[in-house]
Amino acid sequence: MSENYATMHEIIVAARNNSSRSVWNYVTGAAETETTLRRNRHCLDCHALRPRILRDVREIDTSRTFMGHKLRIPCLLAPIGSLQTITPEGGIAVAKAAAEFGTVNLVSTVTEPTLEEIAQATSHPKIFQIYIRGDEAWVDALIDRARDSGYAAICLTVDSAYYGRRERQLITGWRPPSIQRYGENARALQAGLTWEWMDRMRERGGLPFILKGVQTAEDAELAIQHGVDTIYVSNHGGRQLDHGDGTLEILKEVVEVAKGKAEIVVDGGIVRGTDVLKALAVGADVVALGRYQAWALAAGGQATLVRALEIMEAEIKNAMGLTGISSLDELDPSYVKEARAVNQAYELSAFPFLPEEIRGPQ
Ligand SMILES: Cc1cc2nc3c(=O)[nH]c(=O)nc-3n(C[C@H](O)[C@H](O)[C@H](O)COP(=O)(O)O)c2cc1C
Repeated sequence: MSENYATMHEIIVAARNNSSRSVWNYVTGAAETETTLRRNRHCLDCHALRPRILRDVREIDTSRTFMGHKLRIPCLLAPIGSLQTITPEGGIAVAKAAAEFGTVNLVSTVTEPTLEEIAQATSHPKIFQIYIRGDEAWVDALIDRARDSGYAAICLTVDSAYYGRRERQLITGWRPPSIQRYGENARALQAGLTWEWMDRMRERGGLPFILKGVQTAEDAELAIQHGVDTIYVSNHGGRQLDHGDGTLEILKEVVEVAKGKAEIVVDGGIVRGTDVLKALAVGADVVALGRYQAWALAAGGQATLVRALEIMEAEIKNAMGLTGISSLDELDPSYVKEARAVNQAYELSAFPFLPEEIRGPQ
């Protein structure tokens, strides 16, 4: 039963045991040498918290308002494609878990069931994430469907002009159903995305607009000039361009140009309450959880995802109390400093007590 899980370690063990080798590799792997993936984790490990003492921390509030929506913890559920391969209910399991726990989830274009079915599954706010799989008329129709189904915002992912060379998948020959469904030709249309097309999408939707995959201060500035509401710093969990920087480092330069002008989301390697505090201290408004969410779903669908979020909440609360803050609004750059990492970063290095056979290449 999911409520028996005390830590994420047991959830990850269950996820591995429940998943085929192909699905495990799809969820856990990244592009080429997986350097970007490791840098995400390494950057988090290279920052230490600076706790303050002798403050009354009996009451701790882990909530945050994002795009006008109250979240129980400052963690969104990142968009994940082909969720139906990870848990039978697919996107519905995520929506129900987000509603039950009290957060917002992003629904990928390339997951199942349909965006309408996911929208109808719950009444809590959800965000629709766009991938290009057709021409402008196709995208317009997709945006209309998302708006008419009641999605609270549109998120356009822009780090995926080409599909990352994920060698764990290439070696086994397994391709996610999303690629099989739309085919390589439809996917290639993604390479034609421009700022002008993005403007068109933003206007078409008439909803708050998030740009996901911003990785430089220059592009954050352009995004603000183009009226983007929320800048989402992400390198797709290292699944796209290899040899990019870790997102906590990228976040620093983005915060310099975007803080106060747009809301800021960051993801990449965030799997611990202390990771969340570091990202918020550097300047993110909220973080998003990718693999953390996927492992929980693989372990036990909706119920285990709720449990994983409860574990994250407990970690955030504990870390806040030990850092001497009772509200997330107190976090600022004075709460973090650069520090030497104490271990070799890889996708599971935040979970040192996993059995050897699950830890994989290190
Ligand atoms: C299995 C899997 C599928 C994903 N599918 C999508 C997707 O359809 N759209 C998208 O914008 N990002 C997708 N992502 C990227 C996530 O939204 C997020 O940026 C990334 O997972 C964050 O890194 P983390 O996994 O280290 O938390 C996917 C990630 C994973 C692990």
